Amino acid sequence: MPLLFPSFAVILPAAGSGARVGGNLPKQYLPLLGKPVLWHSIRAFSQMEECVEVVVAVNPEWQAVAEECGEGIEQMTYVAGGTERQHSIANGLQGLRTAPDIILVHDAARPCVSRWLVQQVAQTAAAYGAAIPALPIPETVKRIDSNGAIVATIPRHELRTAQTPQGFRRQLLLAAYAHAALHNILGTDDSSLVEALGHPVQIVEGEPTNLKITYPEDVRKAERILAEREHRA
Ligand code: C5P
Repeated sequence: MPLLFPSFAVILPAAGSGARVGGNLPKQYLPLLGKPVLWHSIRAFSQMEECVEVVVAVNPEWQAVAEECGEGIEQMTYVAGGTERQHSIANGLQGLRTAPDIILVHDAARPCVSRWLVQQVAQTAAAYGAAIPALPIPETVKRIDSNGAIVATIPRHELRTAQTPQGFRRQLLLAAYAHAALHNILGTDDSSLVEALGHPVQIVEGEPTNLKITYPEDVRKAERILAEREHRA
């Protein structure tokens, strides 16, 4: 049967220290319904027939735990993480064993991403070259100065918060990473590196349930989301 959606490889940066969540355990290894967060993030992709490879960037001291998370999955590749998220992904790009047209990059700390969103991003990236999920901002947004005084109110209809997975044609993402390395550009997401090339990036509607584990209470929220999804399936 022909695939309805383009095949892709996904890079999961999972080499952060997760200091904001607290404790010694990086957030991608926190237990979520009895398994590490990374275990869930890997399966969100590996169980899709369009997924040809899952590349995980890990801190070498967590390699054994990361490999347990990917146990039994044949598309797995592990690479060493870097000092910044962007360096971890650059290592992932170098470590790819396959060459699909579409590469997705997804934060390991977002275990609740849905199959629907992954497909929307992959399909839109195939059509436009670059696509990311994003959400409108419900609150009014202020710019402040270093004393905490408001400098400006930013029209929020112009703003979106960016999520992952972010999807790109492979050659475009490779060009963006080469350009960023050459010009010392450090971005907090992959879209910003493609934007720096001057290439347009298309938005798809993000999902409020696609939360990034950042604070301790996020683990409980993620458990509720996954348990409810399991219940409905
Ligand atoms: O810290 P932040 O939430 O922005 O991290 C996003 C993702 O990038 C996490 O999954 C984290 O493990 C990963 N990361 C990485 N290498 C780093 C820093 C963060 O792979 N040096």
